[in-house]
Amino acid sequence: MPPESRPMSYSRSELTRLVMPHMQNVLGSLFGGELMAMVDQAAAVAAIRHAGGPVLTAAIDRVDFREQIPIGALVTLLGTVDYVGSSSMDITVEVYSEKVSTGERRHTHTAHIVFVAIDQAGKPTRVPRLVAETPEEQARYEAARKHREGFRRP
Ligand SMILES: CC(C)(COP(=O)(O)OP(=O)(O)OC[C@H]1O[C@@H](n2cnc3c(N)ncnc32)[C@H](O)[C@@H]1OP(=O)(O)O)[C@@H](O)C(=O)NCCC(=O)NCCS
Repeated sequence: MPPESRPMSYSRSELTRLVMPHMQNVLGSLFGGELMAMVDQAAAVAAIRHAGGPVLTAAIDRVDFREQIPIGALVTLLGTVDYVGSSSMDITVEVYSEKVSTGERRHTHTAHIVFVAIDQAGKPTRVPRLVAETPEEQARYEAARKHREGFRRP
């Protein structure tokens, strides 16, 4: 049985991938669909950790594409569970592109995703309460709570 609550820091995820030539779009930079798969995976890791069991992507709420990512770059994705409802989890994934020759790291994308924890029958199931411990975590929690208040489910 998962615990009653988990700290926000417990479920943080980090995924680093090398952008290979087969991942490019017609302009020669990282294809958006490849990036979305990585984003979904980084978010899933955070959601699975928090829920302590299987989860499903319910909604990809928003992705901001700020910059192109070149082939050969290292891409790092950081996922955090920012807010939880009863069975749902709001997750933010920040994407950073790193130039290997200089180590320069740029924040290129941000995505917001909702995952739902499911039980063995595939039905939504309760997740642990989320505990924001630091001022930065509390700010993330508050921003996600406000975002959810303004959200209308389709
Ligand atoms: C996600 C899924 C399990 C939700 O099932 P459901 O019967 O609609 O469940 P409920 O109405 O009880 O909602 C469960 C929770 O999910 C949330 N939710 C469901 N759809 C949502 C959406 N589109 N956006 C945001 N939250 C959503 C609800 O708000 C609720 O949150 P809460 O428990 O924290 O209050 C179901 O829609 C599903 O199986 N979808 C397919 C998911 C999938 O295949 N993903 C793989 C990639 S495409």
